[in-house]
Amino acid sequence: MPDIQLRNLTKRFGSLTAVDGIDLNAEHGEMLTLLGPSGCGKTTTLRMVAGLETPDEGTIHIGEAVAFDGSKGIDVPAERRNLGMVFQSYAIWPHMTVFENVSYPLRMRSRPKKEINERVGNVLKLVGLDGMEDKSATKLSGGQQQRVALARSLVFEPRLLLLDEPLSNLDAKLREHMRVELRVMQKRLGVTALYVTHDQEEALTLSDRLIVMNQGAIEQIGTPREVYECPATRFVAEFMGKANLLDLDGKPEALDGGGFAVLLPGFNGTQTLRLGKEAIRTNSGDGAHCLFIRPEKIRIAAPGAETAAGEAMHALRGKVRARTYVGDHYEYLVAINEGMDLRVTAGLDEQWAEGAEVELIIAGKDMFLYA
Ligand SMILES: Nc1ncnc2c1ncn2[C@@H]1O[C@H](COP(=O)(O)OP(=O)(O)O)[C@@H](O)[C@H]1O
Ligand SMILES: [Mg+2]
Repeated sequence: MPDIQLRNLTKRFGSLTAVDGIDLNAEHGEMLTLLGPSGCGKTTTLRMVAGLETPDEGTIHIGEAVAFDGSKGIDVPAERRNLGMVFQSYAIWPHMTVFENVSYPLRMRSRPKKEINERVGNVLKLVGLDGMEDKSATKLSGGQQQRVALARSLVFEPRLLLLDEPLSNLDAKLREHMRVELRVMQKRLGVTALYVTHDQEEALTLSDRLIVMNQGAIEQIGTPREVYECPATRFVAEFMGKANLLDLDGKPEALDGGGFAVLLPGFNGTQTLRLGKEAIRTNSGDGAHCLFIRPEKIRIAAPGAETAAGEAMHALRGKVRARTYVGDHYEYLVAINEGMDLRVTAGLDEQWAEGAEVELIIAGKDMFLYA
């Protein structure tokens, strides 16, 4: 039984459909991330789960209970959904101490004093703020304030934790640190978490699974690795990380046996890649006219390496146009034709000079075609 179940969840603001009939499950103990560009409907989705926004259509289940079902007139109010929430603006109370901030949800629930002290003590230990009880909240650093917000959302042991860009006000270094801390904490608690971010690196690091959204709809659901390595749509391919996306002139030609021949220009005439039909990611092969390859999936080799590369490998001829040293690796731009570059990342132990003629070796499984 999933902890959160959304079916056909829809929210309109006037003529704008902010969330367009989405379906998703969050499993117990899972860190599930909604990822997408600004305005794609992430916050609206989270607010509907929280009970802060009323859906126009669809249902929300939290555990076995129906939290929202418009057709049955069910709409459980926010404070009875047993959710912890953390937002971008941490909204901790500046005039209160750490203890007063964190104990607030328990005091609201009129818990006995002994229980409050115990729980606040435990949760402060968990977020690494034990001993700070009496500090004024405004005397804390950004990262500490964010931990206070987190502690406050966890202190009443909610079934679900909802987080909306909780790290985006922190500087880059702290953000990276908190990402890992958040994940460790969430796993230690075993709480199910729905996490919203527009930062793809954050989503890749944090999530058990992630959901890529675009214009109110879901483009792909998968593990970080699935989404990064096998983007379901061109949108996901462009949004996630660095990618080579080559627009093809013509349609791929169907080959006997179900594969496709993709024709690319080259300095010495047309170059052909023969891909299996599994390379076609969207719609029909007919419409596929954009080739996707990750820079780190390309190996640079000396010309003539194709024959040595083996059957499942493919080779394109090109010329090194630029090499950039970026600390732990090189980034190359290799032109396969005038005005057609491929980005390639390569280790420091091999160096290819600018102007060198090279062969780019790519496995068939690492290339996809999108419409
Ligand atoms: N209360 C509102 N009234 C009108 N439009 C809204 C409201 N809240 C959000 N929107 C619009 O709905 C879309 C989705 O917004 P939001 O869920 O905040 O996106 P995200 O969190 O992915 O950036 C945006 O176009 C936004 O302008
Ligand atoms: Mg938002």
